[in-house]
Amino acid sequence: SGAARPRLAFLGTGYLGATYAICFAELGYEVLGFDVDEAKIAKLAAGQVPFHEAGLDELLRTNLAAGRLRFTTSYTEVADFADVHFICVGTPQRGDGMGADLSYVETSVTNLARHLTRRVLIVGKSTVPVGTAEWIEQLVAKHTDPELGIEVAWSPEFLQEGFAVEDVLRPNRIVVGVKSEWANGMLYAAHKGVFDLAATEDREVPLVVTDFATAELVKVAANAFLATKISFINAMAEVCEVAGGDVTQLARAIGYDPRIGNRFLQAGVGFGGGCLPKDIRAFQARAQELGAGEALRFLHEVDLINQRRRSKVLQLAAELLDRRSGPAGPDLSGTRIAVLGAAFKPNSDDVRDAPSLAVAAALAKAGADVHVYDPQGMENARVAQPALHYESSMAEAVTGAELVCVLTEWADFRNADPQALGELVAAKRVIDGRNCLDALLWARAGWEYRGMGRPAPA
Ligand code: UGA
Repeated sequence: SGAARPRLAFLGTGYLGATYAICFAELGYEVLGFDVDEAKIAKLAAGQVPFHEAGLDELLRTNLAAGRLRFTTSYTEVADFADVHFICVGTPQRGDGMGADLSYVETSVTNLARHLTRRVLIVGKSTVPVGTAEWIEQLVAKHTDPELGIEVAWSPEFLQEGFAVEDVLRPNRIVVGVKSEWANGMLYAAHKGVFDLAATEDREVPLVVTDFATAELVKVAANAFLATKISFINAMAEVCEVAGGDVTQLARAIGYDPRIGNRFLQAGVGFGGGCLPKDIRAFQARAQELGAGEALRFLHEVDLINQRRRSKVLQLAAELLDRRSGPAGPDLSGTRIAVLGAAFKPNSDDVRDAPSLAVAAALAKAGADVHVYDPQGMENARVAQPALHYESSMAEAVTGAELVCVLTEWADFRNADPQALGELVAAKRVIDGRNCLDALLWARAGWEYRGMGRPAPA
């Protein structure tokens, strides 16, 4: 029976589904990855991860070779194969800019359900508005024979790009929302590989078993908290800017209190990516629908603080370049600016809602001649912002620049030699949008330095 070592399917082989499929094969499960996108499936089946994630390529190839991992575009095949089906399809922001679009969830669950011929568990993993699991349950009831006893469960994920393999193999908790002992047992079996690995390493992975609504809320609550933490420190940066304080020292000092903690307390140009920005908006929209809009009104402020940090970089640019700011923002025409960083964070090629790229576009809109370089994100950046200039190295991007903006804290940029770069630029001015540079070192090399929420070095 499936309960001892269930066969697992992951529907939707985007970032989430592909990572899970590959890592669970690595844990020893027989895994099938499903997607409607034939090109994506062909790539994965050929051993190529369609996005950049450290360590994943190798795991994909070894598990394909071991025969534990396969990919398909056939609903029949996936329905026949798996005992536990994880729904990992995208839930993009709706056209109205607030709520989540559940059409991919609806399509995948409906088509899967229609092909099921035995008792299986369908587990939601995508980030969704609370109440979606109940709705999926109804969809499944509508499209399957009740005699089969197919059940639904919810199990959110917390993986961070750049650490995704670790986060799946060694999660800091597993959360499952279930309605029956059978579902609970199936999900336990589906995660036993994770618990076993932890045991061999003398660790424990806490398991939180809960109802559907709580499981769904855990995910958005966690992301809302992280976004709030980042905006909190960015709000302190705003205050530091007018009061003459240094937010990096402030963060270090408050972070020593373990109740606060020093992680996710990095002030800068703010949060971006495919999750935090859209999740806090969808969460507000859902709370509003449920009549608890007031409870999440602060998330609107969190969003505004985050947006203001992007504008701040523009303001600093105008100040450094001695340009006047009108009501429509600064006029930067005739200036050449290097933007270092396009990805929303280092060790990623993801440019979705990237603060760096948004600022680069805004600088260009203000008239500047913007030259961008990113170690991994160039291909995606070109698609997202085709009008900018892209350079194939940091040196080429900064050559002739009157201002350098470091907007993603890649190690290459952090460790860059200000002396050497200084010889390439037209004027030594730098905005450190991530407070990731050694301000004194740059100042000593003759650079006019501006950080976020910290004074320029004397
Ligand atoms: C985020 C969460 O951290 C994951 O736990 C979650 O699973 C994931 O969303 C998701 O919902 O799928 P991720 O989007 O990969 O993960 O990126 P983060 O590491 O959270 O960074 C988000 C943004 O915040 C980045 O732009 C980063 O530069 C910024 N950030 C982060 C700061 O500005 N300051 C910090 O101190 C930390």
